[in-house]
Amino acid sequence: MTERSAHLRIQRGGPGDAPAHDDFEVPYRNGMSVLDALIWIRANRDSSLAFRYSCTNANTCKECMIRVDDKTVYACTKRLDTTPVSVGPLTNKRLLRDLVTDVVPPREKLSLLLGKPVSEE
Ligand code: FES
Repeated sequence: MTERSAHLRIQRGGPGDAPAHDDFEVPYRNGMSVLDALIWIRANRDSSLAFRYSCTNANTCKECMIRVDDKTVYACTKRLDTTPVSVGPLTNKRLLRDLVTDVVPPREKLSLLLGKPVSEE
């Protein structure tokens, strides 16, 4: 039996860096998600790959939002097949590094800075 692979071209770098990407080949399993592939890459190929997730199942935390083939998706619910895909960060949020963008809502960010909840007034 031959092993099938998924192919991901992933945007790399931080704000102000020249555009760059890395290509990865990942062992393919039926039903695997883009997040499954990113986790495999970080564990087996490049521990410096930056991406964010929390719940790993079906858009509960919404931290895994990225672009796949120029469409905004949840990495944990977007299924892969053996067709090559391009993966990048959200374009409407401030880029931090690789696939990580600043997705904390402004009110929550202020609350973190102040160390206390911000009132709704
Ligand atoms: S990891 Fe939580 S919504 Fe995708």
